[in-house]
Amino acid sequence: MSTAPILATDAPTIPRHVAIIMDGNGRWARQRHLPRLAGHKAGVEAVRRVTRAARAMGIEALTLYAFSSENWRRPAEEVSDLMGLLRLFIRSDLAELARENVRLRIIGDYRAFSPDLIALIEDAVARTAGNSGPLLAIALNYGAQAELAAAARRLAARLPADQIDEAAIEAELDTAGLPPLDLVIRTSGEQRLSNFLLWQAAYAELLFVDTLWPDFGADALADAVAAFGQRQRRYGGL
Ligand code: IPE
Ligand code: IPE
Ligand code: MG
Repeated sequence: MSTAPILATDAPTIPRHVAIIMDGNGRWARQRHLPRLAGHKAGVEAVRRVTRAARAMGIEALTLYAFSSENWRRPAEEVSDLMGLLRLFIRSDLAELARENVRLRIIGDYRAFSPDLIALIEDAVARTAGNSGPLLAIALNYGAQAELAAAARRLAARLPADQIDEAAIEAELDTAGLPPLDLVIRTSGEQRLSNFLLWQAAYAELLFVDTLWPDFGADALADAVAAFGQRQRRYGGL
């Protein structure tokens, strides 16, 4: 892949770009005989802890899978609860993110959301666009296959076929401009990517942990980064 060094044997201690599939909110709630919404609320607390910890550790970019393009299959009430929590999160946390010099990015087709939420999201992105600190990318209505198909359509409209190469595709992805993906973490014991960053994960390290997302925090992130530091990345070389 174009962005990968040809020979790389030592992983940096701190990954530049970490992506997290935040899974297990529902099971966390069920274990406590609580409604699923309580699990999602606790999940938002985990988002706060982990974004702060990632900044403190010097991780340049953190991408969080918050709502997949397949999550519309859930009951309407849960979808609307998730949208409500997103609204609350932006309203309550944008000031801190702006103050901390974080640049907020969205990946995924958030324009399918309600007009007020679209406006809130775009205002939040605009308000942090001039910052120079760490990147926080939130995946909203994101699906990697749809992302790739959209990129292919845009490229086909603009370029002759023989000019559509890896670099051209990469530049059309929602993640264009983010550092190369180093580490994907999935919580809750599931071991699949669920349509997340399929292109970008080509040479990322994958880490599956049993912890349910609402129980994830600074220590768990530090453990994940330590595990990453033990990996030997070869990119096909020796
Ligand atoms: C992850 O937790 C949050 C979202 C997908 C929005 P889940 O809601 O998938 O929790 P489980 O998998 O049912 O435990
Ligand atoms: C993946 O979790 C999506 C997010 C974390 C937003 P899911 O819970 O939707 O994934 P599956 O359905 O178990 O694959
Ligand atoms: Mg799940």
